[in-house]
Amino acid sequence: MKTKIVAIAVALGLALGLNAGIDPAGAAEVKGLRETAVNAPDKAPDVYKVQDGVKHERAYRQQPPLVPHATEKYEIDLKVNQCLRCHEWPYSDQEKAPKISDLHYIDRNGVRQDTVNGNRYFCTQCHVSQVDAKPLVENRFKPAVSGR
Ligand code: HEC
Ligand code: HEC
Repeated sequence: MKTKIVAIAVALGLALGLNAGIDPAGAAEVKGLRETAVNAPDKAPDVYKVQDGVKHERAYRQQPPLVPHATEKYEIDLKVNQCLRCHEWPYSDQEKAPKISDLHYIDRNGVRQDTVNGNRYFCTQCHVSQVDAKPLVENRFKPAVSGR
């Protein structure tokens, strides 16, 4: 019983400490991506230019290909999907853009549809353009084929 009361008192102390803006013991060791103090405004993020016209190789077989052009001006909502205007057949032939693969037309029950299925409608969920930025965290990612 006594230890329980002590535990509650400690928890309460920590909670009060938090409310008063005091770091609870140990919290300083947790390292987040944020570099500035929580109560200070972040500096404006660096602005990078999108790599337009740079073809990116796939890092593994199933990877959605990266977009070799800027995309921020292309609207995607319930009424319009400007990506389709270039990438869906027959526009893809006219625009000389790679045609969306047939897998984009299969619904969740495995049935082939005539229009791009809802589960692949929001293209930028999977296909993103690239900038030459330094990684947010250090990582040792290597393409699946390297070292073979
Ligand atoms: C004005 C036409 C046009 C529009 C709109 C467009 N694209 Fe493209 N896209 C192209 C062309 C052309 C290519 C071929 C590479 C190149 O020349 O840049 C391409 C290449 C790609 C590729 C690379 C495919 C591969 O096999 O490597 C992806 C992925 C892609 N676009 C996604 C998108 C997405 C997502 C959108 C919408 C946000 C979009 N595109 C809008 C014309 C377009
Ligand atoms: C859920 C993820 C996902 C979404 C959403 C998605 N794609 Fe893809 N896309 C992929 C994957 C994975 C591939 C590579 C395998 C394949 O061909 O399906 C691919 C391949 C492609 C290719 C290359 C086809 C080829 O034969 O080289 C194009 C172009 C493309 N997608 C365009 C689009 C466009 C435009 C949209 C939006 C209408 C879209 N994708 C939405 C995952 C996605």
